[in-house]
Amino acid sequence: MSTALAPRLEDLEDKSFDPFEVEKLSHGRVLDPYPTIRKLMAKSMVHKGPYRELFDVVPNVQMAGLPQYTIFGYDTLQKVLLDPETYTNAEAFRRTLGVSFGHTVTVMDPPEHTRFRRIFQRAFLPQVVAKWGETVVDPVVNDLMEGFIHRGEADLIEEFTHHYPFQVIYRQLEIGPEQAPIFHKLAIAQLLSSIGKPQGDEATRKLGAFFAEFLELRRASPGTDLISHLATVEVDGERLPDDVLISFLRQLMNAGGDTTFRGTSVLLTGLLTHPEQLAAVKADRSLIPQAIEEALRWEGPVLTSQRYAAKDSVLDGVKVPAGSYLDIALGSANRDPSKFPDPDRFDIFRDRTVRNMAFAAGPHVCIGQHLARVEMTRALNAILDRLENLRLDTDKPPPVIYGQNLRCPDHLYVRFDPS
Ligand code: HEM
Repeated sequence: MSTALAPRLEDLEDKSFDPFEVEKLSHGRVLDPYPTIRKLMAKSMVHKGPYRELFDVVPNVQMAGLPQYTIFGYDTLQKVLLDPETYTNAEAFRRTLGVSFGHTVTVMDPPEHTRFRRIFQRAFLPQVVAKWGETVVDPVVNDLMEGFIHRGEADLIEEFTHHYPFQVIYRQLEIGPEQAPIFHKLAIAQLLSSIGKPQGDEATRKLGAFFAEFLELRRASPGTDLISHLATVEVDGERLPDDVLISFLRQLMNAGGDTTFRGTSVLLTGLLTHPEQLAAVKADRSLIPQAIEEALRWEGPVLTSQRYAAKDSVLDGVKVPAGSYLDIALGSANRDPSKFPDPDRFDIFRDRTVRNMAFAAGPHVCIGQHLARVEMTRALNAILDRLENLRLDTDKPPPVIYGQNLRCPDHLYVRFDPS
C-alpha cells in the first residue's frame, strides 16, 4: 500500500447532528413489508404511488408531486430492468442520488453509462477482488474478532458486521482511524437531503472537496490503494474522468458498505435461526455460495431501485405513461411464489435455477457483487472457523429484521466457546 497521507476531512458544522439517528427515521420500523407487497401483487403488478407511501415512513421530499408508480413481481421487473431505452436511470435518480453523489454510473444512461461502466467493471474484475479478500478483508475480519473471541458471547452486529465492510473501505482508501468516524458520518449524512436535511448538501460538498484533493495526491504519487487503482484503470486507452471517479467514491460507503453490512447480518441471522442449516454449512463449506444467495433472496438488503418511464408502455396489462417515476420492488421479485416456491422460508437447499434479484439485473446490475460475495464468504468462514459451538444467546432478545427498504436486525446476540 502507498504511504501518502490522506487530506483532512472537515466535519459537519453542527457537531450535535447525528445522521445515524436521523437516518433511522427514513428506514421506519416496518417489521415485515412482505404481506403488504403480496396483497398489492394479488391485485396488479403495477401500483399507483411511491413505495414509501405503502409504509409509515417519512416521504422523500425530492420526489414530491411527481407521478409515481411501484412495480412488483419477478417477470415485470425483468421487463423493466432489461429495457434501458424505455426505463431510464438518469432522470430517475437526477433529483435524488444525483444530488447526493453527483455524476455516478447510477445516474447515467447508455451510451455514457456503457462507456464508464466497462472501466469500473475492469477495476472490479473477480480476480482483482479475490486478491483484496486476502490482503484487505481477512485482516479486518480477524482484527474485529479479536475484540470478542475470548468472551464467549458477542453481539455480532454491533461488534462485527456493522464495522467490517466499512473498515474494508477505509483500508482500501487508506483513510486512517482518526478520520474514519467523520468519513462514515458524512457518507450517511449525504443521503439525508432526501428528507430535507441541509446537512445532506453540506456532507456532499465536503466529501467532494476531500476526494478531489485525495485524487490529486494519488495522481501525483500513485500507490496500491483503491483511488490509485481507479485513477489508472483503463479500457481502450480511456480512463475515468475526475467527476465520475469522485462521485463513485462518494457513493462507495452507501453502495458497498451499508449493503454488505446488511447482507452479512441477514446471512448470519438466517443461519443462526436455522441451526440445522448452520451445522450443514459448518460441516461442508462448499455450501457457502448457496447460503449467501439464499440470504440475499430471502431478506435482500436493498428492497427497491428506481427507473423513469421515457416512453409510454404497458406492464402487466396496465398503461404506464411516459414521464412516470417507478419504484422497482426488488424484494417482491425475490419473494415471488411463481419463481421461488414457499418464498418466505429460508432454505439454503432450495432449487436455484432462477437467479435472485438482490443485485438487480440488466446493464446497471451491481458492480460490487463479486466483492460483496468475497466479503460475505470471508466473514462467514472466519466465524465458522473461530467461534466453536456458535449459537443464539437465548437469554437475550432474538434478532428482529426490520426496515421497509434497507433491512437488517439491530442486534444478533450469540454465545460460543471462549478461546
Ligand atoms: C450485499 C451487498 C450489495 C447489494 C445487495 C447491492 C445491491 C445493489 C443494487 C440493488 C443495485 C442497483 C441496480 C439497479 O438499480 O439496477 C446496485 C448497484 C450498484 N452497486 Fe451494489 N450492492 C452490494 C454491494 C456493493 C459493493 C460492495 C459495491 C462496491 C463496489 C457496490 C457498488 C455498486 C454500484 C457502483 C452500483 C451502480 C451500478 C450501475 O448503476 O451501473 N455494491 N447494487
